[in-house]
Amino acid sequence: MTSMNPEITRQSNLLRDFGEVQVPEMSPHYAYLATRVADDQELLSVDTVAGKGQPTPNLLFASVRFLLDQGASPELLATYPTKFGSDIQAGLFELFRDFVLLHRSEIEQLMKTRRVQSNVVRRFAVLLLGLAAVAERSRGQAFSNIEIGASAGLTLLWHKYKYQYKTEVPFGEPGSKVVITTEMRGKSRNIPSASQLKIAMNFGIELDLVDVDDEKSMNWLRALIFPEHSDNRQLFSDAVNVARKFPPKIIAGDALELLPEMLSELPGGQPTNIYHSHTLNRFSREAREQLDSLLCEASSNRLITRLVFEGTPNGYSDLRLITYENGVQSDPELLANCEAHGRWIDWQADRWGGRRRKLGW
Ligand SMILES: C[S@@+](CC[C@H](N)C(=O)[O-])C[C@H]1O[C@@H](n2cnc3c(N)ncnc32)[C@H](O)[C@@H]1O
Repeated sequence: MTSMNPEITRQSNLLRDFGEVQVPEMSPHYAYLATRVADDQELLSVDTVAGKGQPTPNLLFASVRFLLDQGASPELLATYPTKFGSDIQAGLFELFRDFVLLHRSEIEQLMKTRRVQSNVVRRFAVLLLGLAAVAERSRGQAFSNIEIGASAGLTLLWHKYKYQYKTEVPFGEPGSKVVITTEMRGKSRNIPSASQLKIAMNFGIELDLVDVDDEKSMNWLRALIFPEHSDNRQLFSDAVNVARKFPPKIIAGDALELLPEMLSELPGGQPTNIYHSHTLNRFSREAREQLDSLLCEASSNRLITRLVFEGTPNGYSDLRLITYENGVQSDPELLANCEAHGRWIDWQADRWGGRRRKLGW
């Protein structure tokens, strides 16, 4: 019996986890394809070209979608659903498999050179509530707000969007074309108010800068969006238009290298919030420890808060708040469980009391 190449086994496990745990709710179409790819050695060998630390399932599906959006196979594209609730079409996997093998070299080239930099605007439905929690923690003082892993900067332009928390009055920029909706679940009566936000500075740090004026780069980010998410596709395009008009401030480089000096240059004593969403999966254990220790160090003369919106092994994501004060780091506090793209929020924290607060701006 021949034993399986360890890299193929690793890719197979990644695809299986993606298909069975991470995306069944978010994309039944990709979940089905991923579980089939996980058993197909020839397709798995395509995946092995992906750059180190990159989520291969997203890279594979985005590379295929990128080519489909350019017209490479109208027949395969026609099997892609544009909304939830569609049946998986008969023969889908075979069509997908033939396409990947036929276009193998183009797909491998994309997988080697492109990065998973999905910029999901709806995530700010979750992060905005996190910022409201930070405002309470900062005792009403204005705070600097820094995103690690800003991608194209669409999750930096949060103040340019309008938010609709279904049961609440909308808030944000009233006339914005970018309208972010989400479903509140669970203890959502305790959500904090975002009306008191006072932001001193708002900027991001990004390892691989993405130019919103470069159509090809935008097509790549669009190709990363799951097929069923036509609404996210529209949000993305509308937010790109906002970013072209109001370019977000993004500093190029590795946050671990840049943050110590940046933090030391901010006005002394000013509270500072760091946030990141679906970015920590690119950090090694050492890099995560380095981030904690540099934030601890920088907290000797200011309160630092950190909003952590990352995936969990259960398939959904969560939002946690960590504080760093006088060199001491708090335990992460669970604020909310949520869908990885912000489609629903189950608010967990109840420090804001049982009284329902009116959302305002
Ligand atoms: C999946 S994207 C998430 C973008 C955005 N936060 C969102 O939720 O839509 C993760 C981004 O983090 C960036 N990144 C990863 N490690 C980084 C680091 N050490 N410093 C700065 N950016 C980093 C990647 O280049 C990528 O653009």
